[in-house]
Amino acid sequence: MKACIIPGSFDPFTLGHLDIVRRASKLFDKVYVAILVNSAKHGKFDFAQRKRIAELSCAELSNVEVLTADGLLVDLCRALSVKMIVKGVRNDRDFSYEFDMAEMNRKLAPEIETVFMPCSPEFACVSSTFARDLMKYEKDLRGIIHPDAIEYIYSLS
Ligand code: PNS
Repeated sequence: MKACIIPGSFDPFTLGHLDIVRRASKLFDKVYVAILVNSAKHGKFDFAQRKRIAELSCAELSNVEVLTADGLLVDLCRALSVKMIVKGVRNDRDFSYEFDMAEMNRKLAPEIETVFMPCSPEFACVSSTFARDLMKYEKDLRGIIHPDAIEYIYSLS
């Protein structure tokens, strides 16, 4: 079975993330969306909420499973016997950050490959950071977050 992991902090999962997951779900038999800790970021949503938001967003994709973990990404890959990490990139800033991360992961686990997938142009400006800002000022999340996830987010407040 061909499987990949799409890791991220997903705080929250956006339509940009969904673009990458949907396209990966056509290339792999199984796609794990892994919600992990980015030690440089302070979370808005807790892990259970992030998981629910990602699950609602990916509900139509039958070969996608959302999970959370608090350890290293490569340890999760090994535990799941997954040899491929897929990361979406929007621009050169993303690429530079992801390149360093891929290099660190390669040092930790040389048998695991990272591949980069460019985001579709319509999602180039979509980010979890913008989504959090829009929430803070009670603005419309349509076009940034999946409609079912928006409903769930509103139900939290
Ligand atoms: O969406 P993000 O914040 O860019 O995702 C980054 C994330 C969570 C994938 C990354 O920080 C991560 O892999 N965290 C788990 C710990 C780890 O494996 N760190 C990298 C090697 S030290």
